[in-house]
Amino acid sequence: MKPLKVALLGCGVVGSQVIRLMHEQAADLAARIGAPLELAGVAVRRLGRKRDVEVDPALLTTDAEALVTRDDVDIVIEVIGGIEPARSLIVAALSKGKSVVTANKALLAEDGATLHEAARQGNGDLYFEASVAGAIPLLRPLRESLAGDRVKRVLGIVNGTTNYILDKMDTTGASFTDALEEAQTLGYAEADPTADVEGFDAAAKAAILAGLAFHSRVTAADVHREGITEITATDVASAKAMGYVIKLLAICARSEDGRSFGVRVHPAMIPRSHPLAGVREAYNAVFVEAESAGQLMFYGKGAGGAPTASAVLGDLVAVARNRLAGTHGPEESTYADLAAHPMGDTVTRCHVALDVADKPGVLARVAELFAKHDVSIQTVRQEGHGDDAQLVIVTHRATDAALSATMEGLRELDIVRAVASVMRVEGDD
Ligand SMILES: NC(=O)c1ccc[n+]([C@@H]2O[C@H](COP(=O)([O-])OP(=O)(O)OC[C@H]3O[C@@H](n4cnc5c(N)ncnc54)[C@H](OP(=O)(O)O)[C@@H]3O)[C@@H](O)[C@H]2O)c1
Repeated sequence: MKPLKVALLGCGVVGSQVIRLMHEQAADLAARIGAPLELAGVAVRRLGRKRDVEVDPALLTTDAEALVTRDDVDIVIEVIGGIEPARSLIVAALSKGKSVVTANKALLAEDGATLHEAARQGNGDLYFEASVAGAIPLLRPLRESLAGDRVKRVLGIVNGTTNYILDKMDTTGASFTDALEEAQTLGYAEADPTADVEGFDAAAKAAILAGLAFHSRVTAADVHREGITEITATDVASAKAMGYVIKLLAICARSEDGRSFGVRVHPAMIPRSHPLAGVREAYNAVFVEAESAGQLMFYGKGAGGAPTASAVLGDLVAVARNRLAGTHGPEESTYADLAAHPMGDTVTRCHVALDVADKPGVLARVAELFAKHDVSIQTVRQEGHGDDAQLVIVTHRATDAALSATMEGLRELDIVRAVASVMRVEGDD
């Protein structure tokens, strides 16, 4: 059989593992596809850089545009990352009728519409399994296996770096700064950890997941995002004392009337009995709740060269098979055209710790404020006495707007010395 020619854009952490696997598994891949794969070229930024894999120097180029538009190239794998030049290169490839496999969550969440439109016009495939949760097969199940069901909610841990940091804080009592430093030393966090610890990476993934789950167009701008930098060792200890653990969650949920959805990334307390509570270190896990299927859980390595390359290779086999069959996989599905509702409309619960004056009537005034905002209290507990007195309150479900207004009101009460911590509670409804 005539080989299918593959252009690889990027030969870093993921790209080098893609080359290794294409080489090591060449015979199996050819048998599974029905034709051999041949690497047509590898675009990089610096030709002389030392690589984690042996690459024929004749294949390396810095002219990515010429590579993706070459007539003999059938499939383009984009593992450069970032918005440009990745977007222009993918669009150029798709416009020339090539199929594209990408791991680029940032680009898909920023401007997926442009890529999908180019795929539609070029009649090619755009596959992106590796863009969310690395090795874990998650997008294909949402896009294909659950195509006959109605997804109600997707709730998950989709960023390994923050999970590693929060896990260390939980198990060792470390501060955020110390846990981050350890994660950096071990290679779980970048020197500039902003994208992870401020929730940008998870927000991009949440946008992709929500789009697939609700058959609507969702971008990173639709995602309410809060990171983990403000979480203290005291917050973690307080959660622990109540049987909870703090995780950075990505939550995509249909509204009760089904006419909109909420998509958010923020730290939240979840009960230790929840399956996501047991997700340790840098692992990822995603819980999908569908009307007929019920609850499904996907768990595994969410990043790393080889795990991510596994997902890229899975897509490569799929698009190669489609090309040989003269067909293509499912196009973007946005027919439902639902809109993301504002965070204020999201229904959630809250854990709040208040430093209060230890005197009669305090509890009544606090309770009165919650009632004024229509937020009912599930549990209340006093810890300490005198200047150390703290009220720890867990609410019932209420809109985020009502909860925020209650927190504002508490900050203004003269009997409240400080609102020591506020954390949403998820996963026990
Ligand atoms: N790393 C992971 O665990 C992981 C997991 C899931 C998804 N992803 C996604 O996979 C993609 C790649 O990530 P990575 O970690 O492999 O990145 P990386 O290690 O930084 O590698 C990027 C590669 O792209 C090349 N490159 C950069 N700008 C270029 C340009 N203008 N033209 C041609 N080549 C260019 C670089 O060339 P030089 O080598 O010459 O610098 C390098 O080989 C990103 O979208 C990322 O979000 C990564």
